[in-house]
Amino acid sequence: MPSRPRILLTRRWSEDVERYLAGHFDVTTNEHDTPMSAAQLAAAMREHDALCPTVTDAITAEVLRTPGARVKLIGNFGVGFNHIDVAAACELGIRVSNTPDVLTESTAELAILLLLMATRRAGEGERELRAGRWSGWRPTHLMGQSLAGKTLGLIGFGRIGQATAHKAHAAFSMNILYHSRHRVDAAIEKPCAARYCESVDELIATSDAISLHCPGGPQTHHLIDARRLALVKPGAVLVNTARGTVVDEQALAKALAGGRIQAAGLDVYEREPMVHPELLALENVVLLPHLGSATHETRSAMGMRVARNLEAFFAGRELIDPVA
Ligand code: DGY
Repeated sequence: MPSRPRILLTRRWSEDVERYLAGHFDVTTNEHDTPMSAAQLAAAMREHDALCPTVTDAITAEVLRTPGARVKLIGNFGVGFNHIDVAAACELGIRVSNTPDVLTESTAELAILLLLMATRRAGEGERELRAGRWSGWRPTHLMGQSLAGKTLGLIGFGRIGQATAHKAHAAFSMNILYHSRHRVDAAIEKPCAARYCESVDELIATSDAISLHCPGGPQTHHLIDARRLALVKPGAVLVNTARGTVVDEQALAKALAGGRIQAAGLDVYEREPMVHPELLALENVVLLPHLGSATHETRSAMGMRVARNLEAFFAGRELIDPVA
């Protein structure tokens, strides 16, 4: 019997998926479930046929160019792949796959959760209550903003941006504005009456809530900087479930502290798991620990999506979700 492909999971995955993979591959798991160092990743590159990393692993050109590397596929557990040097992988003939589709709904749900928490001051309220500072109901207590009839501006209008727009429009009667590299088909715009906005600046200046859904990477680094934060409409909120590097955290902390931005809801950070200390000290920001896809259903589906890509690759078929 030919030997089974050797694959490394850099973090622990859902039990059902680990069990499935163990039935089909020679699997190495990371028992400590902590991020692997560059030296550990390099060693793994020499010992495995495929590496299955997550957002916490820096798959740099140096790691990919490990002398004596045997890895031929990077099967990423996640849709975002800005932690992988895809250009270097291409040069080396190493294939890369990701896990689109299966996390769209859960990530859109989390964007809506942050939108609600930020506009309704849910974090502030819970902290006040738990600290024993709640003195009872009163008409002017912790007043937030209603969503109905307000404009949600989405930057990035791929699967997750669209799902967020549909939920905001259908459930909260929000008007939808979006900016992306290209305008999408009218058939996609129609169900949520989405309007295309050609410029990021204009979208920022006219939205009551801004939600980020663009990929990470050099093109979007600090897309939301001090200049753009100064354009935000008074009373507007910002939600980020995309990548932390899209927002200049220092500038955001300043805008939130000065009341330039009413509130923010963040799930991702520039230097995870480090969170900017000035953000941690603010009341008007909701801070979640990168939970966008964190449901049992989604994490299993993500793992199985990696499994399908591994199976296709080792059977000599085209990848289901090729990135490179
Ligand atoms: C994703 O899938 O991109 C999540 O952010 C985790 O990497």
